Amino acid sequence: MSAQVKRIGVLTSGGDAPGMNAAVRAVVRTATSRGIECIGIRRGWSGLINSDFVRLDSSSVSHIINKGGTLLYTARSKEFMQPEGREKAIATCKLLGLDAIVAIGGDGTFRGALALSRQVAESGQKLTVVGIPATIDNDIGCSHYTIGFDTACNTAIECIDKLRDTMQSHERCSVVEVMGRHAGYLALYVGISVGATAVLIPERPVDFEQDVVENIRRARLAGSTHYMVVVAEGAGSAFEIAKRIQEEVGIDPRVTVLGHIQRGGSPTARDRETASRMGYEAVQVLLQDKGNRIVSSLDGRIVDLDMEEALAMTKSFEMDRYDVLEALTNSGN
Ligand code: F6P
Repeated sequence: MSAQVKRIGVLTSGGDAPGMNAAVRAVVRTATSRGIECIGIRRGWSGLINSDFVRLDSSSVSHIINKGGTLLYTARSKEFMQPEGREKAIATCKLLGLDAIVAIGGDGTFRGALALSRQVAESGQKLTVVGIPATIDNDIGCSHYTIGFDTACNTAIECIDKLRDTMQSHERCSVVEVMGRHAGYLALYVGISVGATAVLIPERPVDFEQDVVENIRRARLAGSTHYMVVVAEGAGSAFEIAKRIQEEVGIDPRVTVLGHIQRGGSPTARDRETASRMGYEAVQVLLQDKGNRIVSSLDGRIVDLDMEEALAMTKSFEMDRYDVLEALTNSGN
């Protein structure tokens, strides 16, 4: 065991994701079983600035593996984006005697982690930062999978299946907006899984005539009398899309914005298991004294990557999945 790591802080930051609690539990249980003390930092990076903490032991994280949300609360901190804010955070780490921070969250959380690690290095202090990817958007460049994505997909699918029942009865068109300000993973996975008539994502320029109008026509010609259009929030407003469908196809769509319902709920097996393995790995990394790292899922394996290198990585959007969608849609549904 590394002699350096005696006490660590764990926090969740940015948009919450189902499975964050499972990750916190895994960090705390792994750490305490190795004799490392755990401090929960509440409300993300702002908690580190404001010394907002709670002591955690093995029993503090009992019965949370199945809970959505995050018991540590979460926030987006503008102050932490400034060097003065991070200076206060570093002072908190010093005061509490933290050797490391495990930060669970998405892209913004990791940018904060990187800025913190650089500022710590400049100040000559010793504090290791390890990131665990958790966001329903699945849009972290260095990881094929992020905690929360599977649960959000399943939540959206369950809602859309219900919508389909009533759309089918009334022979209507539904336009459903799913989350994803910058990423279409959720929309595309969900679209494939519900057999959507059309899916619009920010990664692919929208050709309205081809992608929406023509797909609805093909579905109609194949015998369908109801249609399901799934749009990622970053690809345009569902209301605007519904209006254009009405103008160009002459049908009267109903709009549903699924919104934050996708961020809640009990995590699926995939999210609990991934979070557990990632939380375990984060502590292993600290024990091996490897420096600042990001835990990542690559082809199903949990690995750890150098933080600087990991945050420079990009992942190419899985456009082949769009081909699958198109192939299945073109034959009608
Ligand atoms: O990053 C996850 C996410 O759910 C995005 O898909 C969405 O655009 C955003 O968070 C909304 O976050 P908030 O409501 O917290 O501003």
